[in-house]
Amino acid sequence: MSRRVFTKARILIIDDEATNVEVLRRVLERSGFTRVQTTTDPRNARKMYLDFRPDLILLDLHMPHVDGLAVMDELNQIAEATYLPILILTGDVSPEARRDALSRGAKDFVHKPFSTDEVLLRIGTLLETRFLYLQIQNQNQMLEAKVRERTRELEGAQFEIIERLAKAAEFRDDSTGQHTARVGQMAALMAKHIGLPESQVSLIRRAAPLHDVGKIGIPDSILLKPGKLSSDEFALVKTHTTIGARILSGSRFPILRLAEEIAFSHHERWDGDGYARIAGDSIPLPGRIVAIADVFDALTHRRPYKDAWPVDEAIAEIEQQRGRQFEPRLVEAFLRIIEQRDAPLPMNQLAEPKAETEG
Ligand SMILES: [Fe+2]
Repeated sequence: MSRRVFTKARILIIDDEATNVEVLRRVLERSGFTRVQTTTDPRNARKMYLDFRPDLILLDLHMPHVDGLAVMDELNQIAEATYLPILILTGDVSPEARRDALSRGAKDFVHKPFSTDEVLLRIGTLLETRFLYLQIQNQNQMLEAKVRERTRELEGAQFEIIERLAKAAEFRDDSTGQHTARVGQMAALMAKHIGLPESQVSLIRRAAPLHDVGKIGIPDSILLKPGKLSSDEFALVKTHTTIGARILSGSRFPILRLAEEIAFSHHERWDGDGYARIAGDSIPLPGRIVAIADVFDALTHRRPYKDAWPVDEAIAEIEQQRGRQFEPRLVEAFLRIIEQRDAPLPMNQLAEPKAETEG
């Protein structure tokens, strides 16, 4: 470490003997140190430490009013978790004095009367450790910042790939890719409304658009069929829930595990009459939420086999299904959101000509 770094160090001298203080100051200044502050009153220690933020403290042990040990106790309370060297200047060479000072964090001792060479050498060693410590701390902070940045990038990539996967799945029957995004938005509003934590709300917003990812496995002849589906065809369309869950299964990422759950359960009904015939609380909550968001969006937009319903009628249908297709509490949440946020209009305005089959 360069001498220049050392001489920029801030050094605080606390000693009640003015002569000692002056001698030390001169020694330090002759050696090139320019940032030296001193006091002969240890009661100033706290304020001077806070104002000056020294790299090293030269501290007398025996002083009136407050002795060196008490000063160390005080500084230990306010010093941040950083390496602050304290060099004790003392005429007391007793093992007790050393033990007491060491136990409070003193890093070294110089016995009075001291040789200036020895003081400078010990100061040099302590400052070297102090600056190495600061250097490592700085590097750690930079590394932590880099790790945070990389984590954000990875998360961003993860979210973007998920979004594009949802769009890919939707592309054949809605090239605008708007349905999945709207379902994600509405599901997130509902999750928030019922008090789920923000982290969960955000995961639902991003995972819900994958609810129909299993449509990738449904042939075009059925998926894009304009007329009514036969019962065999409808049975095949229904498999998009299990196909989707299979595509998304086995992930270690919470967002994909949630997407798997939603893909599997978004056509379940509160009364147990859905695709997998799971009922009530046994249906995962995110699936129950997406069920409402998905149906509302499907009703208010055109499909090959039906026109877009007027929003009022779609809302009435959701209400009508309270306790049948949908969980009553979630129907309430949905209705409050529609009231509060005037959601139907903007959602309806997003409507594009669509050619979706059973979604
Ligand atoms: Fe679906």
